[in-house]
Amino acid sequence: MESVQTDTATLTLNGAEYELPLSIGTEDEVGVDINTLRSESGAITLDPGYGNTGSCESAITFINGEEGVLRYRGYPIGELAEKSSFVEVCYLLINGELPTQDELDDFRHKLTYHSLLHEDMKKFFEGYPPSAPPMSVLSAMVAAMSAYYPTGDEEVVDLNIIRLLAKLKTLAAFAYKKSIGQPYVYPQNRHSYTEDFLHTMFAVPSEDYEVPDVLEEALDMLLILHADHEQNCSASTVRMVGSSGASLFASVSAGIGALSGPLHGGANTEVIRMLEEIHEAGGDSSKYVEKAKDSDDPFRLMGFGHRVYKNMDPRAEIIKSTADRVLDELGLDDPLLDIARHLEEAALEDDYFIERSLYPNVDFYSGILYRAMGLPTEMFTVMFSMGRLPGWIAQWKEMRNDEATRIYRPRQVYVGAAERDYTPIEQR
Ligand code: SDX
Repeated sequence: MESVQTDTATLTLNGAEYELPLSIGTEDEVGVDINTLRSESGAITLDPGYGNTGSCESAITFINGEEGVLRYRGYPIGELAEKSSFVEVCYLLINGELPTQDELDDFRHKLTYHSLLHEDMKKFFEGYPPSAPPMSVLSAMVAAMSAYYPTGDEEVVDLNIIRLLAKLKTLAAFAYKKSIGQPYVYPQNRHSYTEDFLHTMFAVPSEDYEVPDVLEEALDMLLILHADHEQNCSASTVRMVGSSGASLFASVSAGIGALSGPLHGGANTEVIRMLEEIHEAGGDSSKYVEKAKDSDDPFRLMGFGHRVYKNMDPRAEIIKSTADRVLDELGLDDPLLDIARHLEEAALEDDYFIERSLYPNVDFYSGILYRAMGLPTEMFTVMFSMGRLPGWIAQWKEMRNDEATRIYRPRQVYVGAAERDYTPIEQR
């Protein structure tokens, strides 16, 4: 895109001209600031799904969807996935800079020593049936944290950020253990963050369990890849709820709800169910490509397409190559991976997908890796929540500290009935 020459946009409406200031981003992205549009012209803009509307200026994550670029605080996702750790990326997203060794050690220590739940919170799990969707349990538990850790001044807010980062993985593991009728496994301070999650998920009191390095490394990388993605549906939800002054826990609880939808984070679960259905039907993916193209058929190729990426999602490429390596190291051969590859090849050669720039997104291959780790399908979106948590926190914190923030309150164009008188029921 050529660099911007002017600093205003001109809107002509009903014969009048309105000069609207421009917001120019680090990478020369252009935002037309319509803050004064309604007060000056009486008109609003209309953009269902906000596909062309910026809600804020943000310094956290940059995406170039046309070129498949993703950076956290300026660092390319590929470098972070290869060289960093999830805990370090949490620090980077929330604080804006990579930590020094002392800062990282202190951050790790805090996350380790705040990973226990208040014992009374275990009672909440007892009320859930084993079939309770883990995302609804997680959302409720995070909201319940407000009861144990009320908000307060900035020092309390910062401590609650640590508490949430430290305890979400424990809540996730406890929800899983409750769902399979196994005893809870408590966090162990000797473990790293990701190692401790896998240990609380898979250890049992009756035998020692050492987390395999290959699983810890693969999961740590997956959590990094999911850590933030600018103003996606769930991050925008966290910002919207937080803009009313609601607590971090209330805001993130709402974000978990948004992420659970099958068009958003719930897609990773739907992808595996789609691949299993294809596998059980004999493995012919071409029929499903045709179904996805049929506008009369509600079926969509789950894990494909993206509002922003009109090129390959860089995260999908990293996950796909990691799936090959991990399955090889574990000596696993997952037929669903072959089906996924054939599906990708078929779709990327098909005009329907090419014309609409539909490529695999972060959810297309992630489920294959989660399966290889032994995670149950219903926990896949919970994994997405664990990865996205530092991003939600960073977005919430940036929103709170931004002087431009006002309570989110979009307008509308009313298309309902014009004014009319009430008619008594006997006259209807
Ligand atoms: C995530 O925003 C983020 O950053 C999200 C995320 C993050 O990190 O936070 O990246 C994570 O949510 C990834 C997306 C996971 N969802 C899925 O994989 C579900 C399947 N994908 C689609 O439902 C869809 O692609 C969305 C929801 C991802 C994007 O929807 P849009 O931007 O509203 O696009 P659209 O529905 O307007 O589709 C445009 C066209 C339509 O066809 P036409 O009406 O032009 O004929 O593309 C078609 C759609 O029918 N289309 C698909 C398709 N996705 C879009 N057709 C078949 N299969 C698909 N997957």
